[in-house]
Amino acid sequence: MDKKILNQIASQMVSESKGILAMDESHGTCEKRFNALGITVNEENRRSYRDMLVTAESLPKYISGAILFDETIKQKISEGTNFPDFLNKIGILPGIKVDTGAKPFSCHENEKITEGLDNLPQRMEEYKSLGAKFAKWRAVITIADNIPSSACMIANSHALARYASICQEFDIVPIVEPEVLMDGSHDIHKCFNVTNTMQSILFEELDKLDVVNSGIILKPNMITSGANCEVQSDTNEIAELTVKCLGNNVPKDVPGIAFLSGGQSDEDASNNLNEINKLNNNPWKVTFSYGRALQLEAMKKWNGDNNNNLEAQKIISKRSYLNSLAASGKYELSMENQ
Ligand code: 13P
Repeated sequence: MDKKILNQIASQMVSESKGILAMDESHGTCEKRFNALGITVNEENRRSYRDMLVTAESLPKYISGAILFDETIKQKISEGTNFPDFLNKIGILPGIKVDTGAKPFSCHENEKITEGLDNLPQRMEEYKSLGAKFAKWRAVITIADNIPSSACMIANSHALARYASICQEFDIVPIVEPEVLMDGSHDIHKCFNVTNTMQSILFEELDKLDVVNSGIILKPNMITSGANCEVQSDTNEIAELTVKCLGNNVPKDVPGIAFLSGGQSDEDASNNLNEINKLNNNPWKVTFSYGRALQLEAMKKWNGDNNNNLEAQKIISKRSYLNSLAASGKYELSMENQ
């Protein structure tokens, strides 16, 4: 492990108000998104859709890294270059999702444990040889009656720490993602309490396994009301509680925090990130690592037809630009219509 290399990569991932494009949907998730739009699900469509995303002309101005799926890191863009080589050439760091998904957690109904530690060192070696500079592992925590259990938060945090340690052995920066889902009718205070507990357990586990803070990126949820909660919090409360939670738990030597969008609308994801940046006076950079809130409108415009590439690329470029402004507190809702 080379701490200097890890810190250089992690710092680059969150520098210049750039953010990370999460384009690492598993086959199942990609199928769900394509099906919803009536796009034919096959390998070539997954490849050409992602080709459209990464070849959007102004992307490298706003995006520092792109998280790829196992299939994509081994594919080529249309001009014949491998995805990771192309990304490196245009100044975007290639990353790779390495967890194998959230599976039912033994003896804990309705809870999930993320798997993927088996053979991880061997897979990491392969991904490194393919050009990956960072990786991602997502733990999923659900809020409902009597859950999450401590057991679920401890097991997922321990797995995240094992994963992060293996990444660092290979000088690959781990994105550590403890996602507390927005699903449910809980209020924002419940979300705060669960996220606060999860992040506290997570940083304890990372510390126990000697994971180097200066060589990780945290990818958390924002603190919001549940999607079905009758009272939806405003952006000021979201920003205030999110910064408070991070301030309680994230060590100061973590270089950056890159939020997931979690099902928020494009505008909410940008606006909330903007308010969080206005409030944050901790040393870590605070940016985005969005999937849906960067891609969904572009995917709709593309619609399985490469003749729509230019129009779809305008949309992904615009969302990347607006989120990059939000990563420095310079976004305004009125910009959406310009
Ligand atoms: P969303 O921004 O769509 O939540 O996805 C981010 C991600 O990478 C989830 O693992």
